[in-house]
Amino acid sequence: MKIEEVKSTVKTQRISSHSHVKGLGLNENGIAIPIAAGLVGQESAREAAGIVVDMIKSKKMAGRAILMAGPPGTGKTAIALAIAQDLGNKVPFCPMVGSEVYSSEIKKTEVLMENFRRAIGLRIKETKEVYEGEVTELTPVETENPMGGYGKTVSHVIIGLKTAKGSKQLKLDPSVHESLQKEKVEVGDVIYIEANSGAVKRQGRSDTFASEFDLEAEEYVPLPKGDVHKKKEVIQDVTLHDLDVANARPQGGQDILSMMGQLMKSKKTEITDKLRKEINKIVNKYIDQGIAELVPGVLFIDEVHMLDIETFTYLHRALESAIAPIVIFATNRGRCTIRGTEDIISPHGIPLDLLDRLLIIRTTPYNRTNMENILKLRAQTEGLSLDPEALQQLADVGSKTTLRYAVQLLTPSALTAKVNGRSTITKDDVKEVSELFLDAKSSAKILTEQKDKFMK
Ligand SMILES: Nc1ncnc2c1ncn2[C@@H]1O[C@H](COP(=O)(O)OP(=O)(O)O)[C@@H](O)[C@H]1O
Ligand SMILES: [Mg+2]
Repeated sequence: MKIEEVKSTVKTQRISSHSHVKGLGLNENGIAIPIAAGLVGQESAREAAGIVVDMIKSKKMAGRAILMAGPPGTGKTAIALAIAQDLGNKVPFCPMVGSEVYSSEIKKTEVLMENFRRAIGLRIKETKEVYEGEVTELTPVETENPMGGYGKTVSHVIIGLKTAKGSKQLKLDPSVHESLQKEKVEVGDVIYIEANSGAVKRQGRSDTFASEFDLEAEEYVPLPKGDVHKKKEVIQDVTLHDLDVANARPQGGQDILSMMGQLMKSKKTEITDKLRKEINKIVNKYIDQGIAELVPGVLFIDEVHMLDIETFTYLHRALESAIAPIVIFATNRGRCTIRGTEDIISPHGIPLDLLDRLLIIRTTPYNRTNMENILKLRAQTEGLSLDPEALQQLADVGSKTTLRYAVQLLTPSALTAKVNGRSTITKDDVKEVSELFLDAKSSAKILTEQKDKFMK
């Protein structure tokens, strides 16, 4: 099985305004430490989130859903991202915003299903026949191009591998040469080569070279024990969406072994429901055989009130299927009309039957001290220096508007300070930018006052 070749399709998102958040900051008893891991205050929401993390880790949460509800700027997104950090990178976490489902090219439910499957992991354990060791020699052997011309081609590769127990010299196919280049293997690296597929995996630099001066961060690994040629347990984490993508193309074989290997061969076709069903079937077979294990991850849907009744219905049904992730919703809406309906008003704009399934975590507005601490943290992460008065001024702004707005004023204030030839932000800089820009509330106020001057 060439499962190494299934590419990961993890979504990367710009979450720069939350880059100071490193985790939930709980102690070993699950109690929130007032300021820790980049989070400040909001203790009960963080503790509740901690319980969710524990339940996810012990696999008691699949198919359930959580709603983070609270006013804007109270840390809903920040806490959801902290959950992701605490879960670690072995548990898939797929963030999306409700409005992502509205695309002119892809069906709403299709977007939702894709993200659903990005949030479900599969850990595959296999015993493989491999050659493993520290590379002692790496020589591509070239010959004249048999097709004529001036070029030379690699006819085979000679590679020497060393372990604590012995060493071996292998003569390998040119295709392995390409994988060696792709993994950027050099003499002194610890690698393994799969005997059947020829796939190469670089594990790191041998720790005998640990003192070597290196600009890039390197991972040093010990010299492997045992023989060069051996059986090794290989673990690979993929998501169901990775498998969908890898298989969404015309192919011959129906079993996943050959399917997974058919990457990048011909042009892509669409991921259909039929294909997904097929993949589920095979995945289930592997689970039954104990080769693979399901790792339900988290699908995080921010601004969930943006979903409409159709997507809610679809989501509700999907949550009930056998293979489902944990879904975390977030919203800052109170009672509002459910999108896509004429007049169904519901708490948070979520249909009542779905709401009924949810565990709700509340976030509450910050007090002034917490706000100051968060602003301080943000300034630190952005590498800005604030004088104490400026911090007070920002906290003032924050308590009148929202925390998010105050956080956003940091960068323009820093620019103003720079224009005035200072590296520290002062009270006046903050004042100046808050006079230049409007927050949402003041803007709304002006709109009502001067209604007749604006176009409808
Ligand atoms: N408890 C907290 N600790 C540290 N930073 C926070 C906290 N709550 C919010 N923030 C930061 O404040 C800003 C606004 O919070 P955010 O999570 O976007 O609010 P919401 O999603 O509830 O509208 C973000 O930059 C966020 O990282
Ligand atoms: Mg948010």
